[in-house]
Amino acid sequence: MVRLPANAAEPAQYDIVVIGGGPGGYATALYGAAAGLSVAVVEKDKVGGTCLHRGCVPAKEFLETATVFRGVEGAKEFGIHSSQPVVEFSISQDRKNQIVDQLFKGLSGLMRQRKIAILSGVGRLLPGKVVEVTAPDGAVGRLTGANIVLASGSVPRSLPGFEVDGRYVITSDELLALRQLPKSVAVIGAGAIGCEFASMLSDLGVRVSLLEALPKILPGCDTDVANVIVRSFTKRGITVRTGVTVTGHEPAGDHTSVVFGDGEKLEVETILMSVGRRPLSDGLLAEGTGVEVDERGYVRVDEWMRTAAPGVFALGDLVATPQLAHVGFAEAIVAVKQVLGEAAVPVDYGKVPWAIYCHPEVAFVGLTEQAAIDAGLEIVTKRDPFGGNSRARILGETDGLVKVICEKLPDGKAGRLLGVHMAGPWVTEQLGQAYLSVNWEATPEEISQYIQPHPSLSETFGETVLALTGRGLHAA
Ligand code: NAI
Repeated sequence: MVRLPANAAEPAQYDIVVIGGGPGGYATALYGAAAGLSVAVVEKDKVGGTCLHRGCVPAKEFLETATVFRGVEGAKEFGIHSSQPVVEFSISQDRKNQIVDQLFKGLSGLMRQRKIAILSGVGRLLPGKVVEVTAPDGAVGRLTGANIVLASGSVPRSLPGFEVDGRYVITSDELLALRQLPKSVAVIGAGAIGCEFASMLSDLGVRVSLLEALPKILPGCDTDVANVIVRSFTKRGITVRTGVTVTGHEPAGDHTSVVFGDGEKLEVETILMSVGRRPLSDGLLAEGTGVEVDERGYVRVDEWMRTAAPGVFALGDLVATPQLAHVGFAEAIVAVKQVLGEAAVPVDYGKVPWAIYCHPEVAFVGLTEQAAIDAGLEIVTKRDPFGGNSRARILGETDGLVKVICEKLPDGKAGRLLGVHMAGPWVTEQLGQAYLSVNWEATPEEISQYIQPHPSLSETFGETVLALTGRGLHAA
C-alpha cells in the first residue's frame, strides 16, 4: 500500500488513476501497467472488490461445499459406504477465507510487481482529472491522472419493507460471512444470486423458498434452461413461487414472516434479498467534472467506455452493462487500449458469456429463442438432453440440455449460430466453444467438422450442432 501523498500544491501524476480496485479497476491497472503506463488505484477496502471478497469467488466456494455434500450423500450409488454427511459450515467459511486471502495476496503481489500504486482511501473525482483521496485516518490527498477510470462497482439493493438489519434480513454480503447456516431462508429474487444461494443452501439442508416477482426465474435465460432449474429445485424440495409481490415482513422472536401476494405469509429464520445490485456512484463525483450519471445512478458511457468528460472512462458494475467480472475485465482492456492510442474492439454485450453456478449449472451466450422471435428473426433450434450423454450417465448428472439457436437460411437449413443455452453438469466450463462459435458467427456445417472427445460432456454440444446440419449420429 502506497502512503497517501501529502496535500501538496503539486499532486502526484499518473498516466491512469483508477477509482475502485475490483475486477474492472484492477484489470485496468494490470493491463495498463503491462503496457508501461504509470497507474494508481484508489481503493477504500481491499483490491479484488466484490468479486473476490463478497461475490463470485466466495459464493462458488460455498457452492463447491454443496457439491461435496451431494457427492458424499450419493456415494452409496457407486458402492462407496459412508455415514450421512453433516455440514460444519464454519469450516467451509474458514476454507473460503483462506482461498480469498491467497488470491488477495497473489493479486496484491502482482500489482506491486507491476509497480502499481495502491492508495488506501475513498476516491472522489474533482474537475480537471484530479482525484481526491480520503484515507481511513481522515487525511486527504490529491492525485492527477492524464486519464481517469471510474470503477467503483455496485452494492446489493433491497426493497421497501425489507431493511437489511443483518438479523432477519440479509444480502449476499452478510450470507457469505455466516459461520452457521439458518434452518430456513426465504430468497427474494430468482436471478443469478438468488438461484445460486437457493441451490447451495438447500443442498446443505436449509429449507428454502424462492420468491420471484416475474413469471419466470432467471430472467434473461432461455425458458427451456430455466425450466430445467425449476424442475431440479422442486425435486430437491425448494419451494419456487413466481409472479409474487412481496410487501414486507413481520419479525417475531427467532423468526420472521414474509408477507406476499394476497396476504400470504411465510415464516422463516432469515430473508435473503437478491433483487439486484445498484451502482456505487454516490459521492463519487464532485460538481463540475462533466461526467453524467443516469436516473438509476449508472455513469453514462459510450461503447468505448468514455464518459461525457474527455479522458475520463467508467466501467464494470458502475455502468449499465452486464454486471459480470469478466465483462469488467473486457471493458478495462477497451479503455486502456484507447489510452495507449491502439485500436480497440467494443464489447459485444449481446454475446458475452453467462455462467451461473447453481446445481445444475447454467451457461449461455447470445440470443434466447424468445429474443430471436421477438427480434423477428427466422430461426432453427435444436435441443439435446444430457440424458443420452455417456459421461453424464457416469457422473450420475443427467439433468439438463444443450439448446442451439441458428438463423434459418432461405432453403430452411440452419445458418449462423445465434445463441447456445446450456443447463447441466459442468456447463460453465463447457461454454467456451459455444461462445467462440456464436461470436465467430460459425455455422453448424463449419463447427461439426471438428471432433469432440469421447466420452465427454461436450459431445452433447457437438451432437446438437451435427444434428443441425440435417443429419446426426445419436441426436436426431
Ligand atoms: P438480477 O437482476 O440478476 O436478479 C434479480 C431478480 O430479482 C430478478 O429475477 C428480478 O425479477 C427479481 N426481483 C426484483 N424485484 C423483486 C421483488 N420486488 N420481488 C421479487 N423478486 C424481485 O440480480 P441478482 O441476482 O441480485 O444479481 C446481481 C447482479 O450480479 C446481476 O447482474 C447478476 O447477473 C450478477 N451476478 C452474476 C452471477 C453469475 O453470473 N454467476 C452470480 C451473481 C451475480
